[in-house]
Amino acid sequence: MSEIPRFTWGAGGATPAMLEAYRRDGVLVIDGFKSAAECDRLIERADILVDGFDPDQERTVFSTTSRAHAAADYFAGSGDKIRFFLEEEALDGEGRLTRPKHQAINKIGHAMHDLDPVFDAFSHDTRLDDLARALGQTQPKLLQSMYIWKPPMIGGEVVCHQDSTFLTTDPLSVVGYWFALEDATVENGCMWGIPGGHKGALRNRFHYDGAGRLVTEKLDETPFEEDRKVCLEAPKGTLIVLHGSFPHLSGPNRSPKSRRAYTLHVIDGACTYLPDNWLKRGADMPLKGFV
Ligand code: FE2
Repeated sequence: MSEIPRFTWGAGGATPAMLEAYRRDGVLVIDGFKSAAECDRLIERADILVDGFDPDQERTVFSTTSRAHAAADYFAGSGDKIRFFLEEEALDGEGRLTRPKHQAINKIGHAMHDLDPVFDAFSHDTRLDDLARALGQTQPKLLQSMYIWKPPMIGGEVVCHQDSTFLTTDPLSVVGYWFALEDATVENGCMWGIPGGHKGALRNRFHYDGAGRLVTEKLDETPFEEDRKVCLEAPKGTLIVLHGSFPHLSGPNRSPKSRRAYTLHVIDGACTYLPDNWLKRGADMPLKGFV
């Protein structure tokens, strides 16, 4: 099991021990933060959203290894939408789905928290506002939501990264909230992370270049110390809080069980959101807080 301490959320909110763990490790694990019923409601809702998705109209693969999605307008325009991304291994050589669409989704993103009432209710949780403020944010704003499926047998790996690579503010402020909607185990591709790794530099930035292309810019050559990674197994309902510079990853899912999770990324509205970030929102959808 992980060397990372585990906490539960009580009436007093974030405790000094939680804050100390977050500052030391860059990650904070809170078991039982959401009830099984809340997790199930989100799973049921995501299934309904996928019912309305027509993969014949849009087939965009999301992969952290090939980045094919980065060239697709469907991805680039998804910052203020609800869009569906497929697993790389769910398509054959001709681009045809090899399985039913409900078993082929890599993730749904990136604004369910604003656009869907069930996701809105799950996301706008005042405890998450309290926690973000305890972690140092002065104006917590919900920027991005992702529903990550990690389907059985073909769930793709996520290579080691820092979330501030994708959502950069000046100064850095992003905090990730990752919720296990099902038990996440080594077998079905749980998260791993490098304790204390958030104290290192931001290695990369994924952003628009001057020609309007999405690029990954190398900022720092220091490799991640992946030999120090620890597993972050998470029973259903667990909240894992990630510092924006915390290096984390997950393996592929070759098991017969899915590993559904939901993530929210929160930034401090007092910081500057860099204009070349990939994620854009329309003027009619300003960022909102939790309350
Ligand atoms: Fe991440």
